[in-house]
Amino acid sequence: MLNIAIDGPSGAGKSTISKMLAKKLGLLYLDTGAMYRAVALYADRKGVDVNDKEKVIPLLADIVIDFHGDGEEKRIYLNGEDVSEAIREHRVSKMASDVSKIKEVRLFLVEQQREIAKKSDIVLDGRDITSFVLPDSKYKFFLTAAPEERARRRYEELKAKGADVSYEKILEDVNDRDYNDTHRDFAPLVQTDDSVLIDSTNLTTDEVIEVILRYVNTH
Ligand code: DC
Repeated sequence: MLNIAIDGPSGAGKSTISKMLAKKLGLLYLDTGAMYRAVALYADRKGVDVNDKEKVIPLLADIVIDFHGDGEEKRIYLNGEDVSEAIREHRVSKMASDVSKIKEVRLFLVEQQREIAKKSDIVLDGRDITSFVLPDSKYKFFLTAAPEERARRRYEELKAKGADVSYEKILEDVNDRDYNDTHRDFAPLVQTDDSVLIDSTNLTTDEVIEVILRYVNTH
């Protein structure tokens, strides 16, 4: 099966890029971050602190996550409920980063990600795809951008939606999540030696896609 693995920090544009790439190449797209978000949402709804590992682990047995939808835009379902919007709420982002530190949560989701990748040609994005989920993928990319630029993009996006946000607070959140995601004990975010580094600080989405397509077409 053809797998394209894309890792990188929050806000580097991984999901936008992965979705477009999948469409251009006729592959499926799997947003692994959405799965961590769904686990965090479930724990939160049960009143469980996502940092309380002993309480989070037993919940996993009650969680069924799947993706479906007719078009390209797959929706994520948590125990049959469409939570595609709910998982994007700002507070869920930090909770997802916290819940993703729990090794059992990671193994629970990684097993499902590997199963999905075994069955289809697919683009996956996340934090540990190139290093842990699918280290043997033929194509591996590390997509990043300066924290200030990632915060700026997020700020513009939220402002366009009419949200009352401060750039400084967003930058602080970006830095917090970077720290969290790169410092956890199990399967932290790393750039593997064999990943192609793409720094999108000064690149448009189309330019990033072009770099990836050129690489895929020549390797
Ligand atoms: O990509 P995202 O922002 O939707 O991911 C939410 C959180 O989930 C992120 O802060 C870290 C975690 N995550 C992870 O640990 N491993 C992945 N493969 C994907 C996401």
